[in-house]
Amino acid sequence: MPDLEALKEQAAVPAALLVESGMRVGLGTGSTAKYAILELGRRLAAGEVRGVVGVATSDASEALARDLGIPVEPLDPRPLDLAIDGADEIDPGLNLIKGLGGALLREKLTEVQARRLVIIADHTKVVSRLGEKAPLPVEIARFGFLSTIERLRALGLGGRLRQPGAQPFVTDNGNYIFDAALPQAFDPATLERQVKGTLGVVETGFFLGMAELAFVASPEGVREVR
Ligand code: 5RP
Repeated sequence: MPDLEALKEQAAVPAALLVESGMRVGLGTGSTAKYAILELGRRLAAGEVRGVVGVATSDASEALARDLGIPVEPLDPRPLDLAIDGADEIDPGLNLIKGLGGALLREKLTEVQARRLVIIADHTKVVSRLGEKAPLPVEIARFGFLSTIERLRALGLGGRLRQPGAQPFVTDNGNYIFDAALPQAFDPATLERQVKGTLGVVETGFFLGMAELAFVASPEGVREVR
């Protein structure tokens, strides 16, 4: 059984090495992105880079960055030089499913503005087609959420409201998440349009055509996927 934590760190470190002085960097969310933020904090503290500013994709990543002394600014309309984030699934064309960590809306808002989106992952995230292992997280408004879920089911999507305990999971934006089970065969771009066009849907976890590069770590080493 490979040590997934070690692989996450091995994927994250080369991505953090792409950060240069003066860059504005999108800081991803999740257990793999955490290692990129830690490495960036280390590089800033060691004086390897200066004047780097982070734009965080979640309250948790913002808190971690601030703890490490990384200056954090809110997202504004300026482009970001680079964004580094994890993913739940990566297909051969670098299309992604994201959002099992619940930060998909802020991640997409941030990463769409990045000149380069670099994905970091262990090898278990690589799939031959999206939906192979993971559900598609869909962020939905709380108001009328049962009606929104009915509309999603009418599109042929199974799945369930994310509810880890007695109460539904609430995103940093105050919304719920419907984890949609994807059909066997579908066109991601078409389904993205249909789901985004559904009343009550705020955003989906499809990140299509956004990533430029992925560092994928396996027991055999770290592979660059472009
Ligand atoms: C959070 C995300 C994460 O990037 C994704 O869930 C991967 O997380 P991890 O690195 O913990 O497996 O999209 O919304």
